[in-house]
Amino acid sequence: MSETPIQLRPVTLSDRENLFQWRNHPAVRQFALQPDAIDWESHCRWFSAALQNSQRVLLIGEVDGEPVGVLRYDLNAEPGSDFHRAEALVSVYLVPQRMGQGLGAPLLVAGHVWLAAHYPQVRQLNAQIVPANVASVKVFEKAGYQAVSPQGAQGILQYAYRF
Ligand SMILES: CC(C)(COP(=O)(O)OP(=O)(O)OC[C@H]1O[C@@H](n2cnc3c(N)ncnc32)[C@H](O)[C@@H]1OP(=O)(O)O)[C@@H](O)C(=O)NCCC(=O)NCCS
Repeated sequence: MSETPIQLRPVTLSDRENLFQWRNHPAVRQFALQPDAIDWESHCRWFSAALQNSQRVLLIGEVDGEPVGVLRYDLNAEPGSDFHRAEALVSVYLVPQRMGQGLGAPLLVAGHVWLAAHYPQVRQLNAQIVPANVASVKVFEKAGYQAVSPQGAQGILQYAYRF
């Protein structure tokens, strides 16, 4: 795997425009489970809600201070007293100009390290991948995810990473 060092930081309001551009890029939408383009107003509503949602973690991956990708974790439990052996649904995309450079797997692995430090109660990450998204299957497997059967609806592949 590439040794590219990736730093992670939480998304802030200053990232709102970038996330809008990246999320709407055809290369990011191509294999998304919800591939429709998003308008600015909807994005702003989604973004504000995401920043206030304690069960949603949004991280920017950076190399040399420049953003290279976005990780999203949706926790299945409220962080707090009743938050043992939690799971999270992971979503990942690279900044379109940084695709195809081997950054996908290191970004996912950086996310594991970040989660272990900040949300040690999370014991499993789940991923859903469109079967045609061969690059995604490869990077999730490289990052240590294993296929889980059965498949989901419409043949969506299910993968899991266990800490
Ligand atoms: C999917 C994604 C994270 C992959 O990360 P990446 O760093 O661009 O991937 P890589 O360049 O490391 O390529 C991964 C592997 O897939 C292969 N690959 C890439 N595109 C391919 C294609 N169309 N068909 C077959 N293999 C392909 C690469 O050759 C590489 O193989 P290798 O590891 O054997 O060398 C990134 O492309 C992305 O952000 N895509 C858009 C969003 C997305 O699909 N997210 C995942 C949703 S589940």
